[in-house]
Amino acid sequence: MKKPIIAPSVLSADFSNFAAAAAVIDASGAEWVHLDVMDGKFVPNLTFGPKMVTDLRPKSAGIFDVHLMAYEPDRLAEQFARAGADYITFHAEAAVHSHRLLADIHKLGKKAGISIVPSTPVSYIEPLLPFLDLVLVMAVDPGFGGQELIPECLEKVKNLVRLREQQKLAFLISVDGGINESTARGVREAGVDVLVTGAAFFNAPDKAALVGRLKG
Ligand code: DX5
Ligand code: ZN
Repeated sequence: MKKPIIAPSVLSADFSNFAAAAAVIDASGAEWVHLDVMDGKFVPNLTFGPKMVTDLRPKSAGIFDVHLMAYEPDRLAEQFARAGADYITFHAEAAVHSHRLLADIHKLGKKAGISIVPSTPVSYIEPLLPFLDLVLVMAVDPGFGGQELIPECLEKVKNLVRLREQQKLAFLISVDGGINESTARGVREAGVDVLVTGAAFFNAPDKAALVGRLKG
């Protein structure tokens, strides 16, 4: 089985010191930095805007994986592209003109992703699959770190693996929410490419050891 990329989420870091969080992530062997942008409307929480990402960019060697949990994501994509995002992922439930936004993100020279909440079926985004670099499957209702993974979401990962093969596509499949040492195995077996980890990562005393165990 291929080892997944690990994407620690700074949502569980000390918000007064993101630079320290970036250093800890780099040192752990995790390849990506997951940046959860929340607008206080699409989800009942607020985090940070593009300036934080601009300021953090020179402090990290990781791939910046921006997860927009916000309505009107078309108003935000360009700012996060300029801030140094590598991947820009928005929610299918928050966007109307998704083909256009995916094309705009590509025109900005960035990888484009779509995310679905646990109650949204894969069929909802099937028409978009050929235009995607990443599908981010939420395994919890987004808004907060430290929630429990909803196991039914793993069927969606298997479904996406099948569709990707049938259609000869190459998008990555990411799972976000409730990933820890006990849940990671099932998610890996479902065929995930990227594991997002917030609470488990920042609570782990030995982060490099955790990254190794999450990779399996
Ligand atoms: C949840 C965020 C996640 C979150 C995951 O709304 O999108 O990225 O940080 O955190 P854990 O791993 O703690 O569930
Ligand atoms: Zn996220």
